[in-house]
Amino acid sequence: MSSLDSSFVKNSSWKPDLFKGKVVFVTGGAGTICRVQTEALVLLGANAAIIGRNQEKTAKAAQEMSQLRSDAKVIGLGNVDVRDVQSLVKAVDETVKQLGRIDFVIAGAAGNFLSDFNHLSSNAFKSVISIDLLGSFNTVKATFEQLRKNKGAIIFVSATLHYYGVPMQSHVGAAKAGVDALSNALAVELGPLGIRSNCIAPGAIAGTEGMDRLAPPEQRKSIISKTPLQRYGSTRDIAEATVYLFSPASSFVTGTVQIVDGGLWHLGGMMGDFYPNVIISAGEDDPKL
Ligand code: HXC
Repeated sequence: MSSLDSSFVKNSSWKPDLFKGKVVFVTGGAGTICRVQTEALVLLGANAAIIGRNQEKTAKAAQEMSQLRSDAKVIGLGNVDVRDVQSLVKAVDETVKQLGRIDFVIAGAAGNFLSDFNHLSSNAFKSVISIDLLGSFNTVKATFEQLRKNKGAIIFVSATLHYYGVPMQSHVGAAKAGVDALSNALAVELGPLGIRSNCIAPGAIAGTEGMDRLAPPEQRKSIISKTPLQRYGSTRDIAEATVYLFSPASSFVTGTVQIVDGGLWHLGGMMGDFYPNVIISAGEDDPKL
């Protein structure tokens, strides 16, 4: 089931045909956040290619999303690992073959788990850096020719974890800091070519794989109380920011990070109430290399 439907267009601040004729290429497009980002673009007229590692999940999500608009084309390209630039190049070729062009890129594929430093192996750190950071680089590398030709725009899905030290997240914080740096450099380098590059940094977004995997149930209530806007974010909140950053309304906006977190990071809300006890006990085990 798609989580946005045609009521999004009726109740929206955006024009229904805002993205007519545009094509978006989305890594991680079958996952919760990137799926809803894509749904909003499709509902507003775009066609889409969603890319993922899992063939079945990607194909099913694409099939469901193609129902969102009567003339929507959404293709699902599975068995693509963003760590392998060649597999992305093939996905880009297939997208251009089937949908004609690529205007927008969402680098959203990410990997994460909670691990204290003592239990985080070198290989585990490398896995997350490779998916989140190298994968983001590879995504732009593979789509660059299309972005240049169509004066396109990029959105990297980042995080707020590196604005302060978040325990159990050294791997993702380091990766997302790199993603922000990559986006800034690309904004500067590719701006003269007409390409814009921005990040969206989601906070605690309800119903996402990230929240299910990362926030222990006992921490969930305290996240709301530590959020200035006093609620969880929704995937729609991220979708609205995505529409803005790809729309002509943001045609002079590049090299920015749009934080969509209800103000959570200002209060250090990602720290977790488990700090420091869990870290102290985990630090007593034998180190994992
Ligand atoms: C410690 C772990 C671990 C864990 C895996 N590893 N899980 N270490 N604690 N819970 C270690 C493994 O032991 C191994 O190291 C290394 O990581 C690689 O594991 P593999 O399974 O071989 O790697 P791979 O198949 O590439 O898997 C990548 C992954 C995995 C990142 C490790 O979690 C994954 O595929 N996740 C994709 C889905 C996902 O994470 N979605 C959530 C995104 S949410 P050793 O040393 O044993 O070889 C998100 C939000 C971020 O990103 C922002 C939050 C606010």
